[in-house]
Amino acid sequence: MPILDAIFGRRSVRRYKKKPVPRKVLRNVLEAGRLAPTANNAQPWHFIVVTDPEVKRALSRGRWNKFIEDSAFTVVGCGERASRWSTIDVAIALENMVIAAEAQGVGSCWVGDFKEGQVRKLLGIPGNLKVVCLVSFGYPDEKPRAPNKKSLEEIVHYNAF
Ligand SMILES: Cc1cc2nc3c(=O)[nH]c(=O)nc-3n(C[C@H](O)[C@H](O)[C@H](O)COP(=O)(O)O)c2cc1C
Repeated sequence: MPILDAIFGRRSVRRYKKKPVPRKVLRNVLEAGRLAPTANNAQPWHFIVVTDPEVKRALSRGRWNKFIEDSAFTVVGCGERASRWSTIDVAIALENMVIAAEAQGVGSCWVGDFKEGQVRKLLGIPGNLKVVCLVSFGYPDEKPRAPNKKSLEEIVHYNAF
């Protein structure tokens, strides 16, 4: 799939087929994260890939994250607290994964609805890392309508605000 089709056509997908994602496809997704730009090439990140049904269920207890349970896998993006840029770096890497997944027919949804303490305890994440965000992935079982997006005229300014 051409890259612009993946970016322009992507929607947040919250219903997934019960169809596993092949290892090669998962690996491409993770590679897209690994190769993302990162300030000073510091790579201040760790990614926990959750495939275990019990763990996915435990992560999906909130109002806006129920779909984690049905995801093929959910990636928990963690950034080093000591790094000034880790939140941005992890976010870029996660979005690279989203686009790489989309290009391979795999849908995804970012999940900001999580309790850091609960996720940390559940997954054994050490104290030097913060949980930046989660993203769930899986083959789409819905075709979400395009949400309203602001026009370029509203948000882009040339040379000055
Ligand atoms: C940082 C971030 C956190 C998000 N958290 C959630 C969430 O907890 N639950 C959810 O259903 N969607 C979540 N989303 C998805 C947004 O709701 C979605 O991107 C937005 O409605 C625009 O729709 P689109 O992704 O289809 O363009 C999140 C997106 C981002 C970028």
